[in-house]
Amino acid sequence: MAFANHKRALITGASAGLGREFALQIASQGTDVVLVARREDKLKELSQEIRKMGVMAECISCDLEKPSERARLRTVIESTGVDLLINNAGFGKIGRFNEIPMELQLGQIELNIKALVELTYYAVPAFRRNGFGTIVNIASTASFIPIPNFAVYAASKKFVRDFTEALAYELKGSGVRACAVCPGPTETEFFEVAGSADKFKIGMMKSPEAVSEALEGIARGEARIVLGASNKALAVASRIFPDKLNMNIAAMLTKP
Ligand SMILES: NC(=O)c1ccc[n+]([C@@H]2O[C@H](COP(=O)([O-])OP(=O)(O)OC[C@H]3O[C@@H](n4cnc5c(N)ncnc54)[C@H](OP(=O)(O)O)[C@@H]3O)[C@@H](O)[C@H]2O)c1
Repeated sequence: MAFANHKRALITGASAGLGREFALQIASQGTDVVLVARREDKLKELSQEIRKMGVMAECISCDLEKPSERARLRTVIESTGVDLLINNAGFGKIGRFNEIPMELQLGQIELNIKALVELTYYAVPAFRRNGFGTIVNIASTASFIPIPNFAVYAASKKFVRDFTEALAYELKGSGVRACAVCPGPTETEFFEVAGSADKFKIGMMKSPEAVSEALEGIARGEARIVLGASNKALAVASRIFPDKLNMNIAAMLTKP
């Protein structure tokens, strides 16, 4: 019962993929959930499924790329008893830098970085006041090397991992924890949105196994969790091999 001590979790990007799975697995351990994403119908469907488990599920339809919309989450985080924040919403676009429309390049920064930092900014003092709480930020194995044709996405995830690990250090001894989760290719809507799936299909993890491994690591208090044996090996290899070789391999995988 890793999460039974958390009372209320706010999960962004809960309408699909990993976020949906986080919501289901956390709710199955008795923690109430606040589900955030743009597609309200998907959130409602999920909340009905979760309520059948006997826990509370609230839906907030919100476009986290819009500062005015995500500011609405401030009161929810500060004053409704949220003690677990999962910053999971994110997207990437595969393609040469200038061939991706600028609004999508900036959208990745707005969602993957700015929204995540903003919600974390609200959560830290609120959790500190209670001397308890956990912030989980979803990074990626893409955070370990610069990735040509996925440049903005990979750099955004490097930001997420570095930011979260530094925050975890700052929070030591406060009762509040921060954790960067690094999934590798996983079966979700991610590659459909990214615009290229084929080269990543072999060896993809499934969301349920990825999320249960993440939850085990979070419960152990780890500040960085790389999911899956092959992704752990890749993370180590990325530190051993020269950047140029890493980028050559990455460029082959992401070649449009
Ligand atoms: N799947 C992988 O291979 C993989 C690997 C490494 C890291 N990750 C990371 O894992 C996280 C979850 O991705 P996933 O694989 O589960 O992808 P997914 O299936 O595409 O789900 C993405 C979620 O983010 C939400 N979202 C997207 N734009 C949003 C916005 N503007 N405002 C609010 N919510 C928004 C989507 O909901 P709506 O469309 O309803 O808004 C959806 O619920 C992401 O941070 C991703 O970068 C994924």
